[in-house]
Amino acid sequence: MDSPQPGLESPRAACPVARPVALVTGAGGRVGRAIAVELAAAGARVVVHYARSEEGARETARLARAAGGEAVLAHADLATAAGCAALAALTAEVCAEARAEGGGLSALVHNASRFAPAPLDALTPEAWAEMLQVNLTAPYLLTRALLPALRAARGLVLTLCDISAERPLRGYAHYTASKAGLVGLTRALAVELAPDVRCLGVSPGQVAWPPDMPAEERERLARRIPLGRGGAPEDVARLARFLWREAPYMTGAVIPVDGGLSCRY
Ligand SMILES: NC(=O)c1ccc[n+]([C@@H]2O[C@H](COP(=O)([O-])OP(=O)(O)OC[C@H]3O[C@@H](n4cnc5c(N)ncnc54)[C@H](OP(=O)(O)O)[C@@H]3O)[C@@H](O)[C@H]2O)c1
Repeated sequence: MDSPQPGLESPRAACPVARPVALVTGAGGRVGRAIAVELAAAGARVVVHYARSEEGARETARLARAAGGEAVLAHADLATAAGCAALAALTAEVCAEARAEGGGLSALVHNASRFAPAPLDALTPEAWAEMLQVNLTAPYLLTRALLPALRAARGLVLTLCDISAERPLRGYAHYTASKAGLVGLTRALAVELAPDVRCLGVSPGQVAWPPDMPAEERERLARRIPLGRGGAPEDVARLARFLWREAPYMTGAVIPVDGGLSCRY
């Protein structure tokens, strides 16, 4: 992956109204976009992070504003520690400008993720390291760097896990290990950061198909889902909004959104 200079889209203007700030990583499309728009509809000023999907991120920002929120674009490569540090610094700056909650960060949504198959005999140390960096180390680095802002707002850390953390997909050992680690990180931080900061996870099943998956394969997989169909990014986004705004007594839970798939053997 290239290592672009992280940065916000334009010189920062003061937020006209005080709003809670939410950072959504990987918000240039699919699940990240749905979460960003849902949180914006609930009143957030959303930092719409992207790596490669600049056009997608601009569309997310447009949709977030149309939903009644504010949006700021932020570009960073989370495969590098420098990219994580830069995104955290930019987010802290947006929090300070938003004037809400004492300059705090109300929601930190770790959505960005790598997902690629690699049977073990073809899994290189480089591919392993990049998967762990983006899916697990970046959430740790961002959360640590943004801890003062999260504490100031008594904010929520929300991780996007995967039901396959417990029921692995064949040929995805590095992805499975990264998501299982993310479940552990979510629970560990829930214990360590309470009572100031809540930490919750969402484990999607099939909520956004890989774009190149043939229709017959989608239908075959959908038949295994007790509810008989795949879900949608909005199914995850609605839960994210609920966990952010309506669940002050919840921390440490990792909740499946999978149409019942994780109940099956
Ligand atoms: N889709 C599902 O059905 C499903 C099922 C189970 C779990 N999940 C989890 O739910 C979350 C969202 O799923 P999704 O399918 O919408 O995800 P996705 O499209 O596969 O990826 C989300 C974003 O991650 C970003 N990303 C990848 N590498 C990056 C890097 N090096 N630096 C910064 N950003 C990077 C990409 O941003 P750019 O495009 O800007 O490069 C991408 O848009 C993920 O955590 C995924 O593991 C999804």
